[in-house]
Amino acid sequence: MKTIIEPFRIKMVEPIKLTTPEQRRELIASAHYNPFRLAAEDVIIDLLTDSGTSAMSSQAWGALMQGDESYAGARSWYRFRDTVKDIFGFEQVIPTHQGRAAEHILFGVMVKSDSIVPNNTHFDTTRANIEFCGGTAVDIPCAEAGDLDSRFPFKGNMDTAALKQMVAEHGPERIPLIMVTMTNNSGGGQPVSMANIREISAIAREAGIPFYIDACRFAENAHFIKRREPGFENTPVIDIAREMFSCADGCTMSAKKDSFANIGGFLCTNDGELAHRERNVLILTEGFPTYGGMAGRDLEAIAVGLREILDENYLDYRLFSTRYVVEHLHDAGIPVVLPAGGHAVYLDARRFLPGIEPLQYPGQALAVELYIEAGIRGVEIGSVMFGLDPHTGEEHPSRNELVRLAIPRRVYTQSHMDYVIEAIGQVWQRRAGIRGLKIVRAPRFLRHFTAEFEWIEA
Ligand code: F0G
Repeated sequence: MKTIIEPFRIKMVEPIKLTTPEQRRELIASAHYNPFRLAAEDVIIDLLTDSGTSAMSSQAWGALMQGDESYAGARSWYRFRDTVKDIFGFEQVIPTHQGRAAEHILFGVMVKSDSIVPNNTHFDTTRANIEFCGGTAVDIPCAEAGDLDSRFPFKGNMDTAALKQMVAEHGPERIPLIMVTMTNNSGGGQPVSMANIREISAIAREAGIPFYIDACRFAENAHFIKRREPGFENTPVIDIAREMFSCADGCTMSAKKDSFANIGGFLCTNDGELAHRERNVLILTEGFPTYGGMAGRDLEAIAVGLREILDENYLDYRLFSTRYVVEHLHDAGIPVVLPAGGHAVYLDARRFLPGIEPLQYPGQALAVELYIEAGIRGVEIGSVMFGLDPHTGEEHPSRNELVRLAIPRRVYTQSHMDYVIEAIGQVWQRRAGIRGLKIVRAPRFLRHFTAEFEWIEA
């Protein structure tokens, strides 16, 4: 097999400021050992998120110049709407400034104080928006998702037996919608199979409950189906995506992921009456229904990005580059979540740093070391993020202690990824000397963004 190359040429570059380990030691100390508090300029390879960090194409930049900034009925709106309809297939399209705004509107009109919303795994903003409306967000991932080493090809699947049981117990009166996140971000960027999607759809339709897709990384999910699920080898990815959405009644979307855009999102539904209510909220919180919180130029960029994201050469390269990092790390004996997901590499900090207690935050300690070693910024997904119950103030270890290294789309090359692999290998070699951290200051809610840490004395 030939090397899978980046299927693009670089037309414009953004210089990276290089720093030394000594400088980074001081910079991370000033940031109180919290990578969120670093200035992005002081980061060499920024893997904090793949959201809004993509590189746009020359075509998308060209389209920006054609943005029609008319308040109502802009040309850019029709272009955006028609593209979304063509790929996603829903009748109603509601533009929002990003994904969580779509969630806020959707749950605001559908969720009540006794509502229960099942999902394979809710992303933080989805959960928070449901809870904000008084509802309960319940995660029911498939059993394989809990085993970090399982190479099951669709670890993003929902546990449909658990779903059936929930539906039987609570019915459509308490379950206003069923949601599935594709790919499952919080579960390791793992895909959901078409078989699982069809099964969830059948359960939802039989019970008369609307089925929604959290579609942020829909193209990566569709390409995993093409590559991993028998029967789809020869189906164009766009048709797989259309089939995924045809099983659902609506979706929420963050265009900051699988549209290459730096901002934007939308909400879709086939229910005209519901869309009417959603648009009334949209006008209050986002903007007029033909721009909804975006500039005309953003609508243009998304319309281009949604086509480009379905390019199968791009998707082959995308899934390959994530797998490239995961498999190199795995071959070196470094604990990493298997198999490779779509948008990120997840290091297993519990096994990387077994000497550090969960409440001395091995994930945070590893993220700090990656920064000192090589200027790489990742994010802890463990006891810092999930350990504190904001209502009781009690701390409990999280189920997993992970560090997510999310890969921005089309931004870094293979040599950047080789550098990341080398740096992680070097931290692995000196892991015995790595210390845990303690929190010296943190808010009760969403503390990971701003918490201040100190190293625990050796
Ligand atoms: N759903 C999923 C699965 C997400 O990953 C995100 C964002 C959202 C919804 C919300 O979208 O940011 O446009 O409001 N995930 C980013 C991340 C922030 O880093 O994983 P948004």
